[in-house]
Amino acid sequence: MRLLLLWLAAFTLTAPALAETTQEIVNKAPNGLAQTPPMGWNSWNRFACSVNEKIIRDAADAMVASGMRDAGYQYVVIDDCWHGPRDANGFITADPQKFPSGIKALADYVHARGLKFGIYSDAGRFTCGGRPGSQGHEYQDALSYARWGVDYLKYDWCNTGDRNAQEAYALMADALRQTGRPIVFSMCEWGTAKPWLWAKNVGNLWRTTGDIWDSFSAKDKAHDWAHPMLENVDSNEPLWPHAGPGHWNDPDMLEVGNGGMTIAEYRSHFSLWAMMAAPLIAGNDIASMDAATRSILLNKEVIAVDQDALGVQGRRVSQAGGQEVWVKPLSGGAKAVLLFNRGDQPATILASADEVGRKKAKVRDLWAHRDLRWSGSLKAIVEPHGVAMFTVTPL
Ligand code: GLA
Repeated sequence: MRLLLLWLAAFTLTAPALAETTQEIVNKAPNGLAQTPPMGWNSWNRFACSVNEKIIRDAADAMVASGMRDAGYQYVVIDDCWHGPRDANGFITADPQKFPSGIKALADYVHARGLKFGIYSDAGRFTCGGRPGSQGHEYQDALSYARWGVDYLKYDWCNTGDRNAQEAYALMADALRQTGRPIVFSMCEWGTAKPWLWAKNVGNLWRTTGDIWDSFSAKDKAHDWAHPMLENVDSNEPLWPHAGPGHWNDPDMLEVGNGGMTIAEYRSHFSLWAMMAAPLIAGNDIASMDAATRSILLNKEVIAVDQDALGVQGRRVSQAGGQEVWVKPLSGGAKAVLLFNRGDQPATILASADEVGRKKAKVRDLWAHRDLRWSGSLKAIVEPHGVAMFTVTPL
């Protein structure tokens, strides 16, 4: 108890001193984490507020049993609605009905499976789901997270009133830093304050868009905050110059396996995220996924494009009608090339020698899993809403 009080005193004393200027905090060295885009699973897209400790434990088990952990997925993240009330001293507690064993026990469970553990909060007084937010409790909450063994914080932007985003995110980044525990900081303010322009040393990833909706291109008219997959692609693509090791554009979590798109569309979704060096955070029920979903989330050749050490976000280099060519530079002078057909009819798409590179190369088809003969350019008949994806590695 005395130790805890000392800790607390230290935090209460240091917090005001550390609230230097926002600019000073923004200019601090990055935390060195997420040198490649974070990979993991998050409860929100599939379970929303109906989350509990069994769902999280099952997800951790499934991450191992399915082979996802070995394919690179690492973080198991509880999104909104895990919170109970604050206790008499202002510390956040877990919802006693949904998380009776507490968050520390859950983090231990996840860690025991060789995985990392993430949690969610909000920069306002309340989260989007109406649970207590961290405003005014930043240092205290960061301390709780560190004591529980949290490795990743997603920090949302609901109920923030006229709070300044740069200030609010820099403050929580500083609180996390003060714990001394490495904690990936996932900023979720939907791109409103253009975090790509200022948050390079604040967060490891920042949402560039509103929430993804499990649909290829159809708008959900009832919810203007919900965006079909392609809308998030088009918002995120032009931001490619701002991404790099330790700081990534985040077009939101994956919907692969949630049922609103066809298999071809989910393959496109996953491929486009990999081309954009986006965080690969699965959002389906991984404890009960079918073979098709598994084959997408576990395509190691596509994952390797996302996780390439060069850390350059790919971009669209040409488009004609609904047919697009995307290129992502990879380490060692290689390139990933994506042929994407937005249209409703099969289409022949050609990536020119200029786009592919003129040097003789090894060409690999990442969905057919086979090597192709190099011919200077790349051409494929691409199914409606589908992709063909290749790596081109100069010999
Ligand atoms: C916001 C975020 C979502 C999710 C919900 C939780 O909408 O953008 O990703 O975290 O809040 O309430």
